[in-house]
Amino acid sequence: MLALVTGAGSGLGLAIADELLERGYDILAVSRTEGELSSLRKKYPDKRIDFLSFDLSKKEQCYLLLDQTETMPISLLVCNAGFGDIGYLDKTSLEKEIAMVELNDIATMILGKSFLLRFMKQGKGRVLFLSSAASFSPAPYMATYHASKAFVSYLVHGYHRELRNGKSAVTVSQLCPGPFHSGFEKTAGMHFLRETMPVERIAREAISGCLKGKLTIVVGLKMKLAHLFAHVLPKRLLTLFLDKRKEIVEKEEK
Ligand SMILES: NC(=O)c1ccc[n+]([C@@H]2O[C@H](COP(=O)([O-])OP(=O)(O)OC[C@H]3O[C@@H](n4cnc5c(N)ncnc54)[C@H](OP(=O)(O)O)[C@@H]3O)[C@@H](O)[C@H]2O)c1
Repeated sequence: MLALVTGAGSGLGLAIADELLERGYDILAVSRTEGELSSLRKKYPDKRIDFLSFDLSKKEQCYLLLDQTETMPISLLVCNAGFGDIGYLDKTSLEKEIAMVELNDIATMILGKSFLLRFMKQGKGRVLFLSSAASFSPAPYMATYHASKAFVSYLVHGYHRELRNGKSAVTVSQLCPGPFHSGFEKTAGMHFLRETMPVERIAREAISGCLKGKLTIVVGLKMKLAHLFAHVLPKRLLTLFLDKRKEIVEKEEK
């Protein structure tokens, strides 16, 4: 069993790769740098852990990755690589946000859809997409990031219904975690001020849900409640709740 995991060199991707290795999968890790993959090689000396370097924010590189993996017996794809940014509308970089959409959305769509087509031909396979609790509602100070994750969520819902209608054995899942410590904070230029969840727990529940073919995986009671409220409350009210993000922005400005 071979799983391709994007962004497996750190944070949640590393924890997901660890969880998959534990469950008997070999790993093909894809990101720009190997990151901490050596820790997994030490922990699982008998497992196959390969690495391919690609900058997935460039669509040509996504297509090259598809070419290079065409004959590999991959049965599970985890579209995990992604990043965010925080700050005032007039101080954040438009170029950084374009790169964010290219990675979080365009690369996710190219890889996700292409592997789904491959899996549909094979008659089996699973794709786990990294969405976020950020997909539940729009937000001030992180507008592009929240929108980029809402895109992923809508994509997965649409694919899921089509696969169900076609009675396909192929499954798609979206993981919607709340905050956890990882390289995300450095890339986004922030520090989470409130409670975070251990990344190992998120990875465990993510893979368990994905292997059951669960559509949406939300980890922890607090995030489950947030998911529920997001369905019933108007978006204007939700953005008002998320106004407290301003605290993080103000702290980083100092
Ligand atoms: N941390 C949170 O609180 C949180 C909450 C909800 C959802 N998420 C989502 O979880 C996913 C994983 O993020 P994380 O928190 O684990 O952050 P992370 O530690 O920064 O990991 C991001 C991974 O993506 C890779 N990556 C970044 N840019 C890339 C590019 N252009 N091409 C290929 N790979 C690239 C990075 O490797 P290289 O830099 O070597 O390329 C790294 O391995 C993201 O989709 C994020 O949006 C995070």
